[in-house]
Formats: sequence, structure tokens, C-alpha cells
Amino acid sequence: MILAFDIYGTLFEVKISGLKEEILKEWRQLQIEFTWRITLMRKWLNFDEITAIALKYLSSKYGFEFKEELLEAWTKLKPFNDVEYLKILSKKYKIYALTNGTFMSVRKLLKNAGLLQYFNGIFTAEEVKFYKPSLSIYQVFMNKFEGEKIYLVSSNPFDISGAKNAGMKTIYLNRYNLPHDPLADKPDFEIKSLSEIEKLNLN
Ligand code: LAC
Repeated sequence: MILAFDIYGTLFEVKISGLKEEILKEWRQLQIEFTWRITLMRKWLNFDEITAIALKYLSSKYGFEFKEELLEAWTKLKPFNDVEYLKILSKKYKIYALTNGTFMSVRKLLKNAGLLQYFNGIFTAEEVKFYKPSLSIYQVFMNKFEGEKIYLVSSNPFDISGAKNAGMKTIYLNRYNLPHDPLADKPDFEIKSLSEIEKLNLN
């Protein structure tokens, strides 16, 4: 069985110093909005490019200096405390990253956090050139592992909804006290911490 993990906001807290909290929030929101709009326009920019463009836009909107370190910070985010359970989970399940992020940046992030060793692989939107929650990203991932049971673990409601829509099983890690997304069926499981996965009856 495979546990496919979302990365930003699920395993790693999006917390970056050197920016006001509201601006960071807007940056994250814009980054996600741009992935949707790029996908709708049938264009492609990788996630690092999107992150940079969103920051440039905000720096001209609010008149602050654009600093490369702010981009670099995405590869140095801190994992949430319960991410330590990956060690236990990796003994029982195959662990993959299923993410919008670029392969290079996600690999760096996992390596910097000492987590890369628990992963069997990193699957990114770059491979399909469609961002979450488009059908393709989940479908191509499922096709790659035909016959294997796969659960997506994510704290991003739109991601859970996209996976459900594509016929993937899901575990909604509700970190932000948000109801599940109403655009698709309910997640198969809802948890508050990764420590709960061990006790779930996954099949
Ligand atoms: C990801 C974004 C959705 O890691 O957070 O795919």
C-alpha cells in the first residue's frame, strides 16, 4: 500500500520569516491561484517560477524589496511535529510525495529536514504539466502504480477533493480546522495528526 503525501501545508508548515504574516498568506494564496489559472490557460510554469512571480507581484503591490532568500526559504521550511511518524509509517507503507512542487525543490526540502530517507519517490506536477486538482496528476500517479492501493494524505481541502474526484482514496489531515471541500465526496478518513494513521483501518 502507498501513502502519497502532499508537501506544502501538509508535511511542512508554510512559515517564512522576513515577511508580514498577511503578505505571506497572500503569497501562498496567490501561488495556489496561479497554479489553477495556469492550468486553465493550458500554459506551463513550474512551481518555483510561479512562487517567484507571485512574490514579484506582491513586492510591486506593497513596495517591499524582492529577495532571493524568500524563495530559498521554501526549501528550508520546518516540518510539523507529527511528521516524525513518517519513520514508523515508512516501515509499513510505501511513502511518496505527490506534489505541485518541483522535483529539485521538494527533494532539497525533504533532504534539509532529514526526511528524504523515508520516501520511495517524489512525483510532481512537472511530470504531467497539470496542477492539482486536475484529474491528470492523480490519474497518472495511480496508473504508475496500477493494482496498488493508494491513499493521498493532505491538509489542503482542494487536494483531497481532486484526489477523490479522480477515484483515489484519501485521508484528510485537518490541520486548519476546515470542513472538507464540498466539491467532491467526503474523504475516506479525517484525522488531526499523522500519529492516527497507524490506527486507521486502511484497505
Ligand atoms: C503541494 C501543494 C498543493 O504540495 O501544497 O502540492
